[in-house]
Formats: sequence, C-alpha cells, structure tokens
Amino acid sequence: MVSKALPNSAVIALIGTGAMGAGIAQIAAAAGHPVKLFDNRAGAAAQAVAGIRGQFDKLAAKGKLTPEAAQAAGARLVAVEALSDLADAALVVEAIVERLDAKQQLFCALEEIVGDDCLFGTNTSSISVTAIGSALQRPERLAGLHFFNPAPLMALVEIVSGLATEPRVADILFATAAAWGKTPVHTRSTPGFIVNRVARPYYAEALRLLGEGAADCATLDAVMREAGGFRMGPFELMDMIGHDVNFAVTRSVWSAFYNDPRFTPSLIQQELVDAGFFGRKSGRGFYAYRDGAVPPQARSEAPQPLPAAIVVHGESALARALSERLREKNIQHVRGEATDGRIAQIDDAVLFLTDGRSATQRAAANGIANTLLIDLALDYAKATRIALSAALGCADSAVAAVVGLLQALGIEVARFADVPGLAVMRTVAMLANEAADAVNQSVCSAEGADAAMRLGVNYPCGPLAWADAVGLPVIREVLANLAQFYGEDRYRISPLIQQKVFAGKAFHEH
Ligand code: NAI
Repeated sequence: MVSKALPNSAVIALIGTGAMGAGIAQIAAAAGHPVKLFDNRAGAAAQAVAGIRGQFDKLAAKGKLTPEAAQAAGARLVAVEALSDLADAALVVEAIVERLDAKQQLFCALEEIVGDDCLFGTNTSSISVTAIGSALQRPERLAGLHFFNPAPLMALVEIVSGLATEPRVADILFATAAAWGKTPVHTRSTPGFIVNRVARPYYAEALRLLGEGAADCATLDAVMREAGGFRMGPFELMDMIGHDVNFAVTRSVWSAFYNDPRFTPSLIQQELVDAGFFGRKSGRGFYAYRDGAVPPQARSEAPQPLPAAIVVHGESALARALSERLREKNIQHVRGEATDGRIAQIDDAVLFLTDGRSATQRAAANGIANTLLIDLALDYAKATRIALSAALGCADSAVAAVVGLLQALGIEVARFADVPGLAVMRTVAMLANEAADAVNQSVCSAEGADAAMRLGVNYPCGPLAWADAVGLPVIREVLANLAQFYGEDRYRISPLIQQKVFAGKAFHEH
C-alpha cells in the first residue's frame, strides 16, 4: 500500500507550546491543517497562538504570504484548555520537557482520549523513541518527528522509528512532513539519531586541536569557514548553541554508547560549563560578547616574497587547482610527475596534502627535512585561507617559500603547530567515519545521512559525498594514521569505509 500524507482536513495537535511546539504548529497551520495547541502552563498555549499569528502577519508584511492566507492560517490555530479537547486529533506532536517519564505519562493519558487511528509524534532530540513507546498500549503508532530549531526555517525532519514503530506510521509521517515543505529522512531510534550523532566530531576535533595547541579559536574557526566552507566555525557555533546544551548532548551520546571513546567529551568544554561561560547567552564562551568586546582576529602569516622555483606535481584536485590559480596570476611554474605523492616543490620546500600523519613523522619517513603539509579545502579554486604545518627541523626559508606561494595566490596562511590531520581533513574524515558507521548500523541510508547534515546543520556538503570526492582510500589512510599516531580507539575506521575501499566503491556511485 502506498502511504499518503495526512489530508489538510486532519486535525494536528501540539502539546508543549514553547520554542519548538509553536514552530511546528506554525508549519502545520501554514500547510492548511486545523491545529490545536495545549500546554500545561496556564496561558502558554494562547500566548503561542498569538505569537504564531504575529509571525503570519510579519510574513504577509514581507510579501511572503497574502494577507488572506495569513489571516486564514492564523484562524486555523486554537488554544485548548484540556487534553480531553484533543479527542479528534489525527496526529499529536509532543514538544514538552525533555524527560522520559513526562513524555510517557502524556502519551498514556492521550491513549485514553484520542481515536485508534490517531498517530503520535515526539520531537525529542535525545530520548529513545523505543523507551517512550514501552509505556504505551499501542507503541506501534508512535514515531519520532524531530524538527530542528527554528522549525519554520530548517528543512530537515528526522522521522525516527522505535523498535515497535509500525513502518506504515513512519511512512505517513514522512509523507506528511514532505507535504509540509520539509525534507524528511528516515532514521532509527539510536543515540543522537543522525544529526546529533554525526555532528559530534565537528566540535570534538576542534576542541582537541585547540587542546593540542594547533592554533587559537579564531584561527581554527576561520580555517573551517574559509577552507572548509562551513557557515560557522566550531567555536563560534558552540558559543551560539550554548556550552551547557552542546556539552549535555555530547555527554548524553557518549554515555548512551557506553562511553565509546569516539564521543569522549572535552575537558576544555567541561571547564567552560563549570565556569558558567555558556557562550553568547551568558556574555562569554570561547569569545567575549559583552558590550565593547573586540572579537579576536584569525592569525595569518606575515607577507613573504614569491618563491623563485615552483614545480607542481601530478593530477590531484589540489595540484590542478594550484596550477590553475598560478596560471590566472601569470606566475611561472612547471609541471612534474614525482611519484612520492608530493603536490609541489617550491624552492627547497616539498609540499604534501596531509594524510593524517604529522609533518615531522612524514619527514622522518620520506627523508625530506623540509616537509610541509597543507590542509584539505572544500574547493581549492576558491579557498581564501588554508592551514599549513611544517616538520620540526624544516628550514625557515622552506616555510617562507610555501607561504609566499600561497599568498601570491590570494590565500591567507594559518600556520598550525605540527598536529596530525590539520583541521578540515581531520574533521571531514571523522564526520564521514561517523556517518559511515550510522549507515553501517542501519540507522539511515548514505543519502539520508548526507541530506541530514546539509539540511539539519547546514554543512556545505554531505560528509559521505565529501569523502567520495576526496577519495575513500585517502580518508581511510587519514583515519588509520590518526589511529596509529594517537593510539586511541576514537579514530578506528568504520567497517563500511574499509569495505568500500576493498571493493573500490564510493558511497554515491554515479
Ligand atoms: P521549551 O521549554 O521552550 O517548551 C516546552 C513547553 O512544554 C513549555 O511551554 C512547557 O510549559 C510545556 N510543558 C512541559 N511539560 C509539559 C506537559 N507535561 N504537558 C504539557 N506541556 C508541558 O522547550 P523546547 O526547546 O521547545 O523543547 C521541547 C522539546 O523539543 C524537547 O523534547 C526538546 O528536547 C525538543 N527539541 C528542542 C530543540 C531546541 O533546539 N530547543 C530542537 C529539537 C528538539
């Protein structure tokens, strides 16, 4: 049977009319449903209705809705005083306090009120849908319907199936979310679902890089934005989310996976939480936000002269982009075919793409003292800043030659301490590793994982598509080298990445 979205005539009930519940009610009313709102705090539901009507009026004032449509959508919202007023609901979405017992009690009470066909959705971001369902007489009608904040603007909805969720129910919710203009993605009820699990390395690797003195926050943020193409760097993003919230999510995913070292929380973030430095909302996090606070600048290398001799080697994406940018600037260079993986020789410096080893480790292995490593970029043709590291023992003149070359191409250079994997490469490898494990453990499909990260947290590219573009053997090698360097299980390679490499396949075959 083909599942269908709930018809516009179906009554949608929202319970818990805070930030998320009100946002979801707005979406359902805009899509044409009668929407009933209930909150156990007196006056909260009525206040939410007034707030949503105000949003519709604003959209009308901006020309995004006709005044008639705004009026009609607002008129479809009703605040109710008692749960018993929700008897005619076709779907009840719960966005109350994030507590298992409260959510179980609510759905148990609803089972006595609503009809047999009524579906239940929970907007929980961290509680097991299976566990919520365990208290119900009919857990098969419950699924997670996980919106992202702010719900009216964020496209992603995770449709979360618990162990008892009937596939038909997940399919109806999927079709309904799509009919509301969202991009739904199926997932299973596992810790963090997709987004809150796969995103962990974005914060964790940055915190580790900071802890190891790779660079300061402003420089790391700038590299992730300008080379990685991420909308926000990890430190400014954590400051925005709030360290209390971000740290709690990390802790909850970590403990739900029985303290898997993949997710080990950071002492640096623990200390911010201990200090009450929650980020923007408390006036201080990694950065200061009080009036008059001056944001720190990213550090860039001082200007260096253009080097004399430039040889670009091989046909990698990086080598081709370097060559192209040199041509655009009319900078003389020659092409070479060295077989040791070098990207370029610049005067007496030899430049490689990071492979997850430190520059010093690599210099020792290849016998080239003047070994320098460059980071991954989303698009080398457009990157305006990049991280660079040099082997201990590399001559200052060799560093200056590479810096001078990159500067001549319009690229700011962030010189990092000699940490393995630099910033973008290490982060992308770990994001892809986590997404691969989620796929391998049947949490979601590769397409679902990528869509979730693009639409739930605005990544410039899905991690698996990105890993395909870099080359899975390269990603595998980076992870293997990080695992070897640190000797930590955190960097163990996903079995699915291993198998894809053995089979010579990509996540997305074209
Ligand atoms: P909130 O605190 O803004 O709103 C919760 C509302 O639920 C309050 O108005 C409260 O009075 C009401 N409430 C609490 N217990 C109730 C009960 N037993 N019956 C009826 N109403 C009750 O919280 P927010 O941020 O809207 O979160 C709600 C849910 O959505 C939580 O499960 C949260 O984990 C989840 N979520 C939150 C996101 C966020 O960024 N804030 C993102 C995605 C999911």
